[in-house]
Amino acid sequence: MPELSDTQIQDFENDGVLVIPEFFTTDECDSVQKRMTELLSQYRPQEKETVFSTTDNTHTQEDYFLTSGDKIRFFFEDSEAIDKSRPLELTLNKVGHALHDLDPVFSNFVRQPKLAKLASDVGFVSPLLLQSMYIFKPPKIGGEVVWHTDHPFLWTDPPSVKGLWVALEDATIENGCLWCLPGLHKEQPRQRFRRNSSGGTEMITLNPDPFPTDRKVPIEAKKGTLVVLDGLLPHWSGPNTSSRSRHAFTLHLIEESAEYPKDNWLQRSDGMPLRGFETQIVD
Ligand code: FE2
Repeated sequence: MPELSDTQIQDFENDGVLVIPEFFTTDECDSVQKRMTELLSQYRPQEKETVFSTTDNTHTQEDYFLTSGDKIRFFFEDSEAIDKSRPLELTLNKVGHALHDLDPVFSNFVRQPKLAKLASDVGFVSPLLLQSMYIFKPPKIGGEVVWHTDHPFLWTDPPSVKGLWVALEDATIENGCLWCLPGLHKEQPRQRFRRNSSGGTEMITLNPDPFPTDRKVPIEAKKGTLVVLDGLLPHWSGPNTSSRSRHAFTLHLIEESAEYPKDNWLQRSDGMPLRGFETQIVD
């Protein structure tokens, strides 16, 4: 079972990011890609499809997004991409946010002992599997994901969220790999995204200073690579200008003992509480 070395753990504490090539096998990546193809074949178009875009943010006020925390839902890259004649995997931005609790293939993928061990190695005592996303970043139209940290969107007190990002395909600068600002995770959060009293959401600015993005470092990653991101580490990805897709899977963990506010955008219904690595769902 992979186990982090003291050096890797120290690097993660210093940088807020850790890149682990070959954490997943090609077969493991292929199995979740195949399962997503099956899920897409079962998709029935909505009356009005929802676009996920961090540059225009219309999704942040839409019910389909705001009630997706305990469902498997489909978000498009942009309104021009909603073209029923094109294959879904070439038009979708992502599928989220409870694949890991609703689908047996994704549940088994994330609940492997090596991931539970890794969570423990990076400091979790009792991790809860909060959110999962399958990200398509389709060729030519996959859009930019603006600079952000994850903690403002998945707020806990104290901060505890960490992101596990899996390259299901090779990620390069050309097809929109992650970039980050190593070491910046030691700074205080600059934003908080929360539900407001009118049934929508709002972004609160805590510190208006922009991130020093001139220090950005690319994280090019071969298929099977796992990237661990501290919840306060700024990261970004550019548009996919290439003719190759850049599929990725992400899982976000929080610590069970940390307070999870009721005004976070992502909420679970009472019948579907957050779970840890232990319980696998049965097919
Ligand atoms: Fe993120």
